[in-house]
Amino acid sequence: MEKEKTLAMIKPDGFSGNYMDKIRKVILESGFDIIREMMVRLDAGKVTQFYAEHSKKSFFPSLVEYMTSGPVLIMVLEKPNAISDWRALIGPTDSRKAKVSHPNSIRAMCGLDSAKNCVHGSDSPQSAAREISFFFEDIVPGFVKHDEL
Ligand code: TYD
Ligand code: MG
Repeated sequence: MEKEKTLAMIKPDGFSGNYMDKIRKVILESGFDIIREMMVRLDAGKVTQFYAEHSKKSFFPSLVEYMTSGPVLIMVLEKPNAISDWRALIGPTDSRKAKVSHPNSIRAMCGLDSAKNCVHGSDSPQSAAREISFFFEDIVPGFVKHDEL
């Protein structure tokens, strides 16, 4: 099976709560390779671009505030089926629900609710391509054909 890349992010609450090592351990034990990573402090402009699809939602201002509240760790993960496997591993958006329905998920481990949920994962091949190139301009995701570039 061909390898696939996805974008993962440890959000400010995961970063400040010292969950980095635990999350990294789960990632590696689940068979992902971490092929790139960088620590950044996002500004409001970057968050607004990254989460553009949510810009009209009522939670958007608090999302921007949360995502700019401290450093984040951004990673490109690779393995066969990386996109849906990483989404399955992080669990549902609402960490309160994750604690009930997916107690072994990462959001159950370190998230708080549907706003402060500790980690991000691309939700489709299209989002993965957009999000990876958003942060790592030199990476051309494997599933993008040359005639689409
Ligand atoms: P969404 O894309 O729905 O979730 P996911 O991160 O699982 O793909 O939402 C993006 C982020 O927006 C989510 O991780 C946290 C924030 N958010 C809120 O702050 N409140 C909410 O009610 C929702 C649904 C999301
Ligand atoms: Mg999403």
